Amino acid sequence: MTGPNTIDPAWLPDAALRGIGSRRVTVEGEGPLVDTLRAEVAHAQDKFATSPTDGHVAFRLDAEADTGPEGFTLTRSGGRTTVTAAATAGLLYGYFQVVRLGAAAFTDAPEQTHRPALSRRMLNHWDNIDVHPVMGQVERGYAGGSLFWDDGRPRGDLGRVRAYARLLAACGINAVCVNNVNVHATEARLLTDRIDEVAAIATEFRAYGISVHLSVSFAAPVVLGGLSTADPLDDGVRDWWRTAADRVYAHIPDFGGFVVKADSEGQPGPFAYGRSHADGANLIADALAPHGGTVHWRAFVYNHTQDWRDRSTDRARAAYDHFAPLDGRFRDNAVLQVKHGPMDFQTREPVSPVIGALPRTRVAVELQATQEYTGQQRHVCALAPMWAEVLGFRPEGDDGPTVGGLAGSGGLVAVSNAGADPYWTRHPLAQFNLYAFGRLAWQPDAKPQQLLDEWIELTFDPEETIDPERLRSGLHAVLRDSWATYEKYTAPLGVGFMVQPGHHYGPSVDGYEYSPWGTYHFADRDGIGVDRSRATGTGYAAQYSKPWSQTYETPESCPDELLLFFHHVPYGHVLHSGTTVIQHIYDTHFEGVEEAEAAQRVWASLADLVAPARHARVAELYEEQLNSAREWRDHVNSYFLRKSGIPDAGGRRIH
Ligand code: GCU
Repeated sequence: MTGPNTIDPAWLPDAALRGIGSRRVTVEGEGPLVDTLRAEVAHAQDKFATSPTDGHVAFRLDAEADTGPEGFTLTRSGGRTTVTAAATAGLLYGYFQVVRLGAAAFTDAPEQTHRPALSRRMLNHWDNIDVHPVMGQVERGYAGGSLFWDDGRPRGDLGRVRAYARLLAACGINAVCVNNVNVHATEARLLTDRIDEVAAIATEFRAYGISVHLSVSFAAPVVLGGLSTADPLDDGVRDWWRTAADRVYAHIPDFGGFVVKADSEGQPGPFAYGRSHADGANLIADALAPHGGTVHWRAFVYNHTQDWRDRSTDRARAAYDHFAPLDGRFRDNAVLQVKHGPMDFQTREPVSPVIGALPRTRVAVELQATQEYTGQQRHVCALAPMWAEVLGFRPEGDDGPTVGGLAGSGGLVAVSNAGADPYWTRHPLAQFNLYAFGRLAWQPDAKPQQLLDEWIELTFDPEETIDPERLRSGLHAVLRDSWATYEKYTAPLGVGFMVQPGHHYGPSVDGYEYSPWGTYHFADRDGIGVDRSRATGTGYAAQYSKPWSQTYETPESCPDELLLFFHHVPYGHVLHSGTTVIQHIYDTHFEGVEEAEAAQRVWASLADLVAPARHARVAELYEEQLNSAREWRDHVNSYFLRKSGIPDAGGRRIH
């Protein structure tokens, strides 16, 4: 696979620093983040020392400024650009805003104050130290090995981690959990005798205002401490966690906290002791509290060993059933981390009803930047439109808060898509997903199109491109609707899980149909979909507040794109779009492949505008995407033609 000779600068190529590098800059203040800012300015000036202009950029600390701990005010007038902040993090974020604005940072404009809407903007890495026999080093990682560990040991040179921290800060991310939520034996020890490795990583992240967090095993007192129990109400267990947390903070004074996956897909948890998840989360929260740390307790709890014959169990219900009754029982420093949908990061899911259901609990919303179910960084699938839809959803209807607003209590989290690949994300265009996540965590109502423009302007230096407008419109054409295209050629109408079991790449319509995972579509000769209505189905629709409980309750009121998530309907059922379910399946699968082919042609037409190695990498991946998209189309269309016996009205070839 082709790649650059060096690590790709992603959205911080030196060219993006031209404006600031060619001006006089003054920086006030002291502290590690100000040192970082000065080093950034020096680097930029070093690159553009030969082209000084008259302008002046000032970074000022003002304890009275109303910017909060991370915000800043930007003023631009008469050739002078000033970033003012109450705290040093704001100066650094202000610097990256100046970079992002490009030439516009130096033209007169009204004063603006920027503050992050969410105070925790976090990435979860699913990295292991060892290479796991099935999952590889990074679970669901599609971008090479871990940025932190190599060959069972910490990377000797953490320069790459520093460069990563810089990219993350430049899009607004301020917290990183470094290891997999599935905590295997080696990684469990990061909490105890391997904590130095985490401390070394924390040093790199600290320079960019990013706190480090650790995934820990609920069974740590047993597996690491030799205790006979991990019961959260046992005094010895409580002491063990307190001592463990004290040791972590002795090594990393600004440590962020722990992430816990408990009673989930085989991970240990409080159920083994007859305790609740509030008991479990509070145990860990209490150990962290003296140090100001937070536990992120995941709500991804369901029965993964269910009998597919059992129609009474609905995996989609599980998180709400487990957690909604616990509202108000979690400590202030415990955050319930909820996946954005009720199942598992499918291409289309409704927003999880858990997000609005615990008003007295801090909630973080978890997204998946790593493209486990959305093409595994071999397909172009820009996720910002999906995430913007989720963040703009109002669980209580038009008068209630958005998901982005509700996440203010706990934060926004994404499973990282970055690894040791020279392009960070393997697919160079998947860098946009990482960038967009950070920007949406800062401003959940940001518009995906605007973020795409920002990312293009930073990543593809306009002055090194002979035709920036053709490049911009080409990149819009390949990225803008790529999620919709991907959705068209994969599982239809929100039904989910038609992937190959295990690795989850490529089509297998019945791959999960007779499995223990609770992921079924129930297609037969007459129809397809899962009846989750209150009246005749699993009752999942009733977990929503009004108006959504009513909207989702009947096929007539349910939006087309979620129809098969909520209802089992005949193939002849007519959608709001006017077409039948079966014809929709055929049409979208042909269209999706045609759209991907068109995107491939657009990419080919940009060859003269993009660096050759980057162009070649994407072109190679388009070959793979197209092969895979055709497989999807032909599997899905053939399956449904054979099941239903209903021919395609368009008379196209189906196998
Ligand atoms: C998915 C994914 C797993 C992961 C899990 C989680 O099920 O396939 O690899 O561990 O999500 O979020 O915990």
